[in-house]
Amino acid sequence: QSSSIYITLTIIGFFFTGVPGSMVVTWTTFNKTESKVEYSFLGGRHFEMTANGDATLFVDSGEEQRHMYIHRVTLTGLKPAAAYVYHCGSDKGWSDAFFFAALNDSTNFSPRFALYGDLGNENPQSLARLQKETQLGMYDAILHIGDFAYDMHEDNARIGDEFMRQIESIAAYVPYMTCPGNHEATYNFSNYRNRFTMPGQTESLWYSWNLGSAHIISFSTEVYFYLEFGLELLFKQYEWLKKDLEEANRPENRAVRPWIITMGHRPMYCSDDDQDDCTMFDSYVLHITTHKNVEFVSFTGVDLELWAHEHTYERLWPVYGYKVYNGSKEQPYVNPKAPVHIVTGSAGCREKTDMFNPNPKDWSAFRSTDYGYTRMQVVNTTHIYLEQVSDDQYGKVIDSIWVVKESHGFSAWF
Ligand SMILES: [Fe+2]
Repeated sequence: QSSSIYITLTIIGFFFTGVPGSMVVTWTTFNKTESKVEYSFLGGRHFEMTANGDATLFVDSGEEQRHMYIHRVTLTGLKPAAAYVYHCGSDKGWSDAFFFAALNDSTNFSPRFALYGDLGNENPQSLARLQKETQLGMYDAILHIGDFAYDMHEDNARIGDEFMRQIESIAAYVPYMTCPGNHEATYNFSNYRNRFTMPGQTESLWYSWNLGSAHIISFSTEVYFYLEFGLELLFKQYEWLKKDLEEANRPENRAVRPWIITMGHRPMYCSDDDQDDCTMFDSYVLHITTHKNVEFVSFTGVDLELWAHEHTYERLWPVYGYKVYNGSKEQPYVNPKAPVHIVTGSAGCREKTDMFNPNPKDWSAFRSTDYGYTRMQVVNTTHIYLEQVSDDQYGKVIDSIWVVKESHGFSAWF
């Protein structure tokens, strides 16, 4: 019999490399095999092109020390917006065939995102809706803002395998962009670092990328909490963040990509009542980043900040240093004078949803404890649209805003 019976092709993550016309396909086998992707334009003869890559051995730190091979194959020279069909594996066994559209690299492109955090293996309530909407072509990219699987390392990392199979029906079709959350911390984030493939050289811990008129920064709030894994991570990330923001803020860069959007797991502001960081309205992330001058210096000129961790949805008024800076009374999000924050961590996990403090501060604009996720479209250089989908209410849109900025950057706030 062929040796293919030993091969399990399970995990296909389809991640954007950050380089236009380039995507990386990531999957896992439990035997050492070659790493190939065969692909072609959708509608043509299948699998006319072949790309080769490498596999790295990942040994889980659980008792069984399970071995798996994480395959990475980069596809280059993709034609922007063209549709492709592909499968991955090797002559020892192939995956199902999937399709994707190569990302449009024009700065006039209006990308559509689904974004959420805190999606688990158990009780992943929004998953079916996200799978279907992704396959219907409603999104150009997904932002998963930390906390996966609950937890990937459990059962000797079999929960990680199972979770990756669950998101394959999303992540094999569109770029699945991530940042680490507290649930990834075990064995120094090793499951997270190994299973995902984000741009840059930080094992997916922090990075930035561009799409349409947006510059998107992903960073780890967890460097502030797990100091046992090295204080140097905190300083490295801070230095990188400063440099990245300086670069994005250069007039010639900001002119073509004026929107600067950040994503990080634990929010600076939230009004949940779950004995968590935000219970006293003074989150550790805000506190420490204020002292490290992240909010007051590095976040200068950031338009939109996306967070998760709290298992609820909360939209904030433009806020800076605990103070609300609405654009105007009638149109708070038209030319806001501070970053706009969204906390969206209610995709669904075994910990269920959280409760809110009954007396929110004045920076809190809208709150929901429904399961769900957020949709975002970066329409053009002046307009971003955001809406909240309630999965409890069968996909009903329960909140929406337009953020309008006629000018961007620090000076636009005065
Ligand atoms: Fe979390």
